[in-house]
Amino acid sequence: MNQLNILLLGSGGRESALARKISESPRCAKLWIAPGNAGTGAYGTTVASLKPLDFDAIKAFVADNAIDMIVVGNEDPLVAGIYDYFENEPVLVVGPSRAAAALEGSKDFAKEFMARHAIPTAAYRTFSAETLREGQEFLSTLQAPYVLKADGLAAGKGVLIISDLKEAQDALAEMLGGQFGESSRKVVIEEFLSGIECSVFVLTDGNGGYRILPVAKDYKRIGEGDTGPNTGGMGAVSPVVFADREFMDKVEQRIILPTVNGLKQEGLTYRGFIFLGLINCDGEPKVIEYNVRMGDPETEVVMPRLASDLVDLLEGAARGDLGDIPAEHDPRPAATVIAVSGGYPGDYAKGYPIEFGADGDSIVFHAGTAFDADGRVVTAGGRVLAVTSFGDTLAQALEKSYATLKGIKFQDMNYRRDIGRDVLKLMGEI
Ligand code: AMP
Ligand code: GLY
Repeated sequence: MNQLNILLLGSGGRESALARKISESPRCAKLWIAPGNAGTGAYGTTVASLKPLDFDAIKAFVADNAIDMIVVGNEDPLVAGIYDYFENEPVLVVGPSRAAAALEGSKDFAKEFMARHAIPTAAYRTFSAETLREGQEFLSTLQAPYVLKADGLAAGKGVLIISDLKEAQDALAEMLGGQFGESSRKVVIEEFLSGIECSVFVLTDGNGGYRILPVAKDYKRIGEGDTGPNTGGMGAVSPVVFADREFMDKVEQRIILPTVNGLKQEGLTYRGFIFLGLINCDGEPKVIEYNVRMGDPETEVVMPRLASDLVDLLEGAARGDLGDIPAEHDPRPAATVIAVSGGYPGDYAKGYPIEFGADGDSIVFHAGTAFDADGRVVTAGGRVLAVTSFGDTLAQALEKSYATLKGIKFQDMNYRRDIGRDVLKLMGEI
């Protein structure tokens, strides 16, 4: 069997879930995770000193360790052009080219791409500092609430949803005045869409081949009942009841096919994951956003539910030919609940020792963890652990994760008690 040496870039719960799945493959010879976290050593070799944006250092590491394939967890290296950097090197990279990564790196680019390919999304217009007045007038022609999006990457903080017109007009002036630096040099103003969101993940080989991975739903707000500020994600469930056959047929025909074919037609090289942030508007799927990577914490339920060999799939995508490599889904539901540092998503302390209880029937993925000077595992980020479980039912999967969380302790630990409740309600289970 042809085995690969694999380098995975990133350090969060998503990378832990990718690392676990890669390490389970008989096609994986050796796995390195850079910079990794205190848990990634369970799946391979953690290289804490190697930074995902230092392409020269990665190139040297690839040569020294005979790496065959680089898998990129988060968007920054992709948007910065890691695919292009290694294009003529003897190593495969799973991901989009820099030009195609603009689907995530520029909201304006993504909206224009969707318009060119008639992909359903919210109506919009884009404004710059020179057209601030027009933007403010445009807002006054819309119905509240008003959706304002910084064009570029803004660490998940660049989207404002405001109910008052005057406030929205002031916010537009602030954004275009440099609130998010270069990222808000342009601002997209969008029609507000209401409905339930879900995350659809596609792996594409850039040549028209693609596989649809299990659908997930994440929980972005810090507070129960979806209240309070946005976070990176407090939990996720998979599958999602409304993403049934009929809905997914629409997603495939109206969104996935035009996206995959549109990229190819436009010569935008893309051999990696496409993350479709979708909203279900009365049964009609519309695109809220594209990301050019897997979601976090969605990956912590999607990867466990992928029943096929991930290395086969990644290699097929990176080589540009998925052929007939399968992507089977495990029918069992999965849920993940994130344990976060007290104060997150605002200021929080780091360095608290973590006490792990029994894993029970769960998988405990490390996210923001590190070793302290004494070799103890301590908190090192806002999102600290992702506790994933399978169940015969979604309710049971959630119960298992919550039972496991009871045994985990660190100072000021917080988590949402209501992950998945909206989906259970839709299913009539509560
Ligand atoms: P984005 O970074 O584009 O995913 O936006 C962050 C969040 O803002 C999304 O997950 C949605 O919950 C919300 N959002 C973005 N665009 C819209 C829209 N047009 N209508 C309603 N909600 C939106
Ligand atoms: N969970 C949303 C994201 O990864 O962007």
